[in-house]
Amino acid sequence: MALEDTNNKLLPPKHIAIIMDGNGRWAKKRGLPRTAGHAAGGETFRTIANYCRSIGVKYLTVYAFSTENWKRSEEEISGLMKLLAKYLREGLRDMEKNHVRFRFFGDLSRLSPELRKLCEDAQSRSAQYHEVTVNFCLNYGGRDEIVRAARSFAEDVAAGKAKPEMLTEQLFGTYLDSEGVPDPELVIRPSGEMRISNFLPWQTAYSEFVFMNVLWPDFTPADLDAAIEEYHRRNRRFGGA
Ligand code: FPP
Repeated sequence: MALEDTNNKLLPPKHIAIIMDGNGRWAKKRGLPRTAGHAAGGETFRTIANYCRSIGVKYLTVYAFSTENWKRSEEEISGLMKLLAKYLREGLRDMEKNHVRFRFFGDLSRLSPELRKLCEDAQSRSAQYHEVTVNFCLNYGGRDEIVRAARSFAEDVAAGKAKPEMLTEQLFGTYLDSEGVPDPELVIRPSGEMRISNFLPWQTAYSEFVFMNVLWPDFTPADLDAAIEEYHRRNRRFGGA
């Protein structure tokens, strides 16, 4: 039986990861530019992040920009970067009030110096908070994360700080961007696509995936509740009988 809180509502997973997909299609349906879809998606992010906090989710990880998204038009990329900066600035203002920790998964070196500074400031200023953490995947690719981790371990070996035989899954995890963050129990992908698109391949080895037909800008707290209910209907065995 799934655990329930005092309101008879199913307790949420500790860590939910979301692929915020469908912004472009949402805009196209309305005859709007793709950037308008991302702006609507940004508002959904805010609503869902607040809702997650209110129901007790401890970690929320969102796919904001992938290593493959650089293939998009310059206009769309710069629109997305501006939006990210806007939400980070706002998030920073609310951070102290809500005690939210911000972390960034991905290779930030390719971002503009201003955006990178915003990310680094948000990360260091919020490092003292442990109640709720939002992980932004920015210029993130799962394979890239694993390669960077492997390179960093190899550098430690070359410097005499580690030995190849020391490497375990647990130790390798400490070289990943997600170091110290428990694996997501639930991954949600709205928009009808059914693939993981290089999102947290290491961390989601045993996650439950819920694919939904709603486009991200239309995604509501009720959709999140539905995904959590679906998660509770699954029988998680972790390879056991
Ligand atoms: C995928 O939809 C979405 C993205 C590539 C960007 C997600 C970014 C936001 C929601 C903006 C703000 C983010 C934060 C964290 C504040 P798509 O463009 O691939 O949609 P499509 O598949 O319908 O074309």
